[in-house]
Amino acid sequence: DWTMGAYKAEAIAKIRKQVGDSKVICGLSGGVDSSVAAVLIHEAIGDQLTCVFVDHGLMRQNEADEVVSMFRDNYNIPLIHADEADLFLGELEGVSDPEVKRKTIGRLFIDVFQKHAGDIGGAEFLAQGTLYPDVIESVSFSGGPSVTIKSHHNVGGLPEKMGLKLVEPLRELFKDEVRALGHELGLPDSFIGRHPFPGPGLAIRCPGEITRDKLEILRKADAVYIDQIRKHGLYDEIWQAFVALLPVRTVGVMGDGRTYDYACALRAVTSVDGMTADYYPFTHEFLGETASRIINEVNGINRVTYDITSKPPGTIEWE
Ligand code: XMP
Repeated sequence: DWTMGAYKAEAIAKIRKQVGDSKVICGLSGGVDSSVAAVLIHEAIGDQLTCVFVDHGLMRQNEADEVVSMFRDNYNIPLIHADEADLFLGELEGVSDPEVKRKTIGRLFIDVFQKHAGDIGGAEFLAQGTLYPDVIESVSFSGGPSVTIKSHHNVGGLPEKMGLKLVEPLRELFKDEVRALGHELGLPDSFIGRHPFPGPGLAIRCPGEITRDKLEILRKADAVYIDQIRKHGLYDEIWQAFVALLPVRTVGVMGDGRTYDYACALRAVTSVDGMTADYYPFTHEFLGETASRIINEVNGINRVTYDITSKPPGTIEWE
């Protein structure tokens, strides 16, 4: 892609100019944005960059391993895998308010980061994969008065507290442009094509209190749902799809017995940039088949609903 080739060269020059000989740390979330930012910066400044993957225990099934091995197998980027699930899940115990969840995760993220930044020694810059929509959405909504809809934990706060300067090479880009840039940088298509995943991870797909048991149920259901979507060849048509585990148990019947298990909601939307979205019009056949599979294959769920809310008025995530 000619445009992205030019953009890449320009971005690399800009990063070199901004950073000079200093060290940079970059938080990898496992998502496309931070990965593209990391690879771009690595191409610009090589081993002056160290990546930190903060595993908050809120990743999807196998996701942490996939991310770490992707970076180790495909790139020679110094990577610290910080397994901090106990810390995050411990602090989140009993927390059900969405903003408190986000702020707790954001605060711990800073702590963990600071620790590793200290270990690396003398990092002067922090790299983030902030996109243009992140920038706008944190400031205003639909051109109206300044309102914060959700505090994105990857925007603001972190660098000031750490005394680090920010490197945000994707700040002017939309998601589709980030994907084109990732392609230009040679990231595997399977990785670039992945649906976006929010920084706070499964915490905001598990309304109410988060427990390890709930997370395990959610991971399994999500894996079945995504498998269904891939098998039906729909993955690339959908902007984002996931399961939200609802904080409610419902009565069901299975075999001769009564069940009393969680209900979940399937979410799938089409979107251009995540700012607005429409629910995906699955066939009833697909929905029925998926519901059966989830209920049969996932212990702990006995009811499946489909979320048909568009954005606005809904948001894509449930929290
Ligand atoms: P909402 O739910 O606000 O989400 O309609 C819009 C897009 O942003 C993602 N999202 C986040 N990404 N940190 C992130 O990196 C966050 O705190 C966060 N909250 C939402 C969401 O998955 C969707 O793609």
